[in-house]
Amino acid sequence: MLARLVLASPAPHYRPTVDGGTSILGRHPILAEFDRTLDGLALGHGRLVLVTGEPGIGKSSVAREVASRAAARQWSVRWGSCVEGSTAYAAWVQLLRSSGPGPGRDAATELENRHGGVDDPAGGPAARARAFDRVIDALRAEMHSGPLVVVLDDLHWADQPTTFLLRAVADVTVVAPLLLLGTYRDDEVPSEHMLRVLGGAERFALTGLEERDVGTLLTDVAGVEPAASVVRSVSTHTAGNPFFVSQVGRLLGAGGLPLLSSSAFPLPASVREVLQRRLARLSSRCHQALGTAAVIGPTFDVAFLSEALAASRDEVLGMLGEAALARVVSDSEGEPATWSFVHALFRQTLLDGLGPVTRARAHRAVGEILESRGHLDDVTTSCRSALPASQPGRPRARGRAGRHDRALPL
Ligand SMILES: Nc1ncnc2c1ncn2[C@@H]1O[C@H](COP(=O)(O)OP(=O)(O)O)[C@@H](O)[C@H]1O
Ligand SMILES: [Mg+2]
Repeated sequence: MLARLVLASPAPHYRPTVDGGTSILGRHPILAEFDRTLDGLALGHGRLVLVTGEPGIGKSSVAREVASRAAARQWSVRWGSCVEGSTAYAAWVQLLRSSGPGPGRDAATELENRHGGVDDPAGGPAARARAFDRVIDALRAEMHSGPLVVVLDDLHWADQPTTFLLRAVADVTVVAPLLLLGTYRDDEVPSEHMLRVLGGAERFALTGLEERDVGTLLTDVAGVEPAASVVRSVSTHTAGNPFFVSQVGRLLGAGGLPLLSSSAFPLPASVREVLQRRLARLSSRCHQALGTAAVIGPTFDVAFLSEALAASRDEVLGMLGEAALARVVSDSEGEPATWSFVHALFRQTLLDGLGPVTRARAHRAVGEILESRGHLDDVTTSCRSALPASQPGRPRARGRAGRHDRALPL
């Protein structure tokens, strides 16, 4: 059986797709790794693989692509999605039920009956172990006819029982033709979370698309080929996040191209919503501090921010640490005192979200520091206007708009 599967090759003219339409771009290295994993699967070598990255970076797309490559080899694929606030084991129940009548469905029913999940006092550890064994037996039964790919998408929303079961099933992968493929947003999973320490897992952290692929995606979505300068700008602002890129592409396709020649970057509502949701998870002090950091510029230093916030360096480092875990900012390699926003779009969202009073206060604080440091050329028009009108002896700020107040230029 396995020998037959080794020989089975992907369907001819197989064209990888994302969402059934656009070709998947820029993921050839990781997909080549997955092809090798699938080859190994045919020889009975199972794996647990975790694909991580921020929302919209393309985790589900990669998982879908791997699933369709497995399906092209005539292998079974079971897919379960974790949903925020769902009942215990919901993703497992979903994927086991999709196998039709048989041991998978029976195991799903048993999981469903364990309403209390891991801590269910009525069930206890022995009952849980029995339920897990039934799931494993059901998956083994599926593997009688060939390798099996089980995808658990959005594990950052997994309830604890789901992750426990994942760990139990992962132990099986070593000796079975089973690819267990999980995805999660690493910015939503705390550092001590079980997902981060699952032994034996192979991990792929997805990063943004290259500029060339951003150009192709924009053209695909917008139906027009944007100028190289537009591609560069979109690439910089979105850090190559394909969801952000495609949303901007839609705007372009809908006749928004002129917007791109204005001074500010157009932020589609869908993108703004994602960014705001990510910012909303931060403590209010951290959120506030980032507002001031956004006024300083795309890059800012800790001493400057401490002074603008009238906060100690340690306090500021604590807040930046929180924001770094949420992947909103990062420190510069080799320059721990210098930080920047991960996406220019985060900065723009923060600036847009500042109320007029907070905005004026932040501009004044930043302007005063620049003045006191003698960086008069960097004091912006709005910072200047936020300074007290007449302060005898105070040097007047002059010069062009500074780096920290420029509308995100194209
Ligand atoms: N490599 C890629 N090439 C082209 N489009 C992509 C790629 N990855 C993701 N996309 C598109 O970006 C959007 C978000 O992708 P998705 O896989 O849902 O991200 P995630 O699961 O990480 O949140 C989808 O519309 C998808 O079609
Ligand atoms: Mg997804």
